[in-house]
Amino acid sequence: MPIPIIRKITASDASSFQALRLEGLANHPCEFGTALEEEADLSLPDIERRLEDGQIYGVFVGTKLAAIAGFRRFDRLKKRHKAELFGVYVGQDSRGQKLGEAVVRHVIAVAKNEAEQLLATVASLNHPAKALYAKLGFRQFGHEPRAHKVGDRYFDQDHLVLMLSCIEAD
Ligand SMILES: CC(C)(COP(=O)(O)OP(=O)(O)OC[C@H]1O[C@@H](n2cnc3c(N)ncnc32)[C@H](O)[C@@H]1OP(=O)(O)O)[C@@H](O)C(=O)NCCC(=O)NCCS
Repeated sequence: MPIPIIRKITASDASSFQALRLEGLANHPCEFGTALEEEADLSLPDIERRLEDGQIYGVFVGTKLAAIAGFRRFDRLKKRHKAELFGVYVGQDSRGQKLGEAVVRHVIAVAKNEAEQLLATVASLNHPAKALYAKLGFRQFGHEPRAHKVGDRYFDQDHLVLMLSCIEAD
């Protein structure tokens, strides 16, 4: 396997980003806050803008985009010390190779330069993601019953925080 490269995803990656993102939304309707139908019809220019304006990182194995994760800092004056992790996804055929851990570690390292705390939300039943976040130091501070409704079913979510100011530099 080629050595994985982690870098910011740019407008030129829009097609491969969209394909991986839609794979995630299609296969994991209970794990993401966005529904597939909310993104399925986005145009490539929409995606390109989102990538240029945002901070989304990817793991590339050779030319293949295998894992993605992003963060955004809150804008408002009293919340600017916080950022939120979002869109963590590893392609089905790339799981279990530490690529999810690598991309989230990278996001943490970048977010540390911009914020003091990194928030995450995770479906309470999503044990792989919860184990990943716990391994990286996130702690649960809340639980929201019925946070998402998918069809007729409700899904709880856990709220997590990682204190970035307490992390040692690599
Ligand atoms: C959760 C997810 C990102 C993990 O990615 P991955 O690349 O397969 O995981 P990694 O190989 O990097 O594993 C890192 C750690 O995650 C945890 N983990 C990963 N897969 C796991 C599994 N199937 N069961 C339990 N823990 C798991 C473990 O703590 C693991 O560390 P360890 O191997 O030292 O025990 C991936 O399964 C995924 O994309 N799931 C669907 C989308 C999703 O749930 N996104 C998160 C939304 S909040």
